[in-house]
Amino acid sequence: MKSPHPIIVAPSILASDFGRLHEEVRRAEAAGGDWLHMDVMDGHFVDNISFGSAFVEATAQVATKPLDVHLMIERPDHYFPRYVKSARNITVHVEAQHDVSATLAAIRAADCTCGLSLKPGTPIEQVKPFYGQIDLLLIMTVEPGFGGQSFMTDMLPKIASAHAARERGGWNFRIEVDGGIGTETARLCLDQGADTLVAGTSVFRAADMAAAVAALRE
Ligand code: DX5
Ligand code: ZN
Repeated sequence: MKSPHPIIVAPSILASDFGRLHEEVRRAEAAGGDWLHMDVMDGHFVDNISFGSAFVEATAQVATKPLDVHLMIERPDHYFPRYVKSARNITVHVEAQHDVSATLAAIRAADCTCGLSLKPGTPIEQVKPFYGQIDLLLIMTVEPGFGGQSFMTDMLPKIASAHAARERGGWNFRIEVDGGIGTETARLCLDQGADTLVAGTSVFRAADMAAAVAALRE
């Protein structure tokens, strides 16, 4: 563990049973999840449509833990205001169609923390100019769009680069990883400087969710 931040585990609601949302939220919280990660997809930015603000609001109504909203959408600048009441953190993509700096500033002005994310094919250099303006950097460790994919080991150098830059620059942002995170891959990421772990399949499909969450932290 290299990060100065305590580890946060964020179970990803995408992997839950939407028909039993209330129970699934309670199950994730009782299992020790610190945040609930919510993947919003618009069918344009990624090749899938998941859920939108109504579903996130429904989750907020039953959740006691903070919601970590990940906007995998083409126009985050236009849509993020619909999430500010429900979310604690809102993450947008550097590849989306918007003025990234302006969107990050607007999210903070709306009293949420702001995150910036990059897809596996996007070089880390593309997010560097924004390190001074973010609370969280979300490094995608699978191609965004679907849960249940395999972790991409070649993303580990991006984590190391972001962590080194964070140390050098004296910045404080969290480094979050998302996609294919389980006990083994979490360890690899924590060793490079990650501190915030999104986990869908590995926790929601575990026989013992509390044990799965605890194992991620070790
Ligand atoms: C993928 C999403 C992830 C997804 C992770 O586009 O951003 O948050 O829920 O799911 P697992 O942990 O199953 O890879
Ligand atoms: Zn996500």
